[in-house]
Amino acid sequence: MTDLPLLYHTHHTIEAEDIPFWLAQAEKFPGPILELGCGTGRVLIPLAQTGARLVGVDKDAQMLAFLRANLSEAHTAQINLIRGDFRHFCLTSRFALILMPCNTFSTLAVADRQAVLNRVRLHSQPGACFVVSMPNPLFLAELPQTGDPEVELIFSHPLTENPVEVSSEWQHRKHGVAFQWHYDHIFPDGRIKRQSLTAYHLHQKIENVYVAFKKAGLEIIATHGDYDGEEFNPDESTHLIITAHARD
Ligand SMILES: C[S@@+](CC[C@H](N)C(=O)[O-])C[C@H]1O[C@@H](n2cnc3c(N)ncnc32)[C@H](O)[C@@H]1O
Repeated sequence: MTDLPLLYHTHHTIEAEDIPFWLAQAEKFPGPILELGCGTGRVLIPLAQTGARLVGVDKDAQMLAFLRANLSEAHTAQINLIRGDFRHFCLTSRFALILMPCNTFSTLAVADRQAVLNRVRLHSQPGACFVVSMPNPLFLAELPQTGDPEVELIFSHPLTENPVEVSSEWQHRKHGVAFQWHYDHIFPDGRIKRQSLTAYHLHQKIENVYVAFKKAGLEIIATHGDYDGEEFNPDESTHLIITAHARD
């Protein structure tokens, strides 16, 4: 049985440089808040501290099961979790803030990106804000052809307390860059159980991303290059973080 949700959650909770940024968005737009691709609740659970009403949508039953198992009673009343596809979902609620953290957007094909943006517009309250983070498309395109795996983090497995080594590698493919994260669970007798996650980030010109927002009726009001508020610079930033308002 896979413990990938647990490994993903532990890894990305240690490397959680983005959480203060998402909390700051929630302070500005107190809710209701919708997170698209909420996964294990790495962002959704900290957002619950703000007291906002929250909805999380994700298609992955295992990620959602992990999240549900980790919700306190109070959070269970505050957070509504929906298993579904964020390209096609339809809810009766409208939101003041919609978020898509953690690079999910750039794993979507062009038509799927447009479908998501159209859903965002449809589920926005007047003046609502949509915030999405992704790798800087130019940074992705200019990565060397391959990146070989190197151990970048070691943490204790939360259940066994054995070490888990995290390494990642990437390869350029025809239409994007495939990243793989390996979790090597090392047992006392020397056995290693490897579990891997793959994310395929598709190439797209930055201008085309902006055009897709416009087409959906989302007006871009800020672009940042990191979670500290640095302005986006296509030649230097590792991230592209877009903040957009739903046009009336
Ligand atoms: C990189 S994880 C991000 C999880 C969480 N937002 C975070 O910051 O840790 C991407 C999540 O998006 C979900 N996802 C990807 N495509 C989806 C789709 N079409 N509909 C709903 N969820 C999707 C995956 O199941 C996964 O949980």
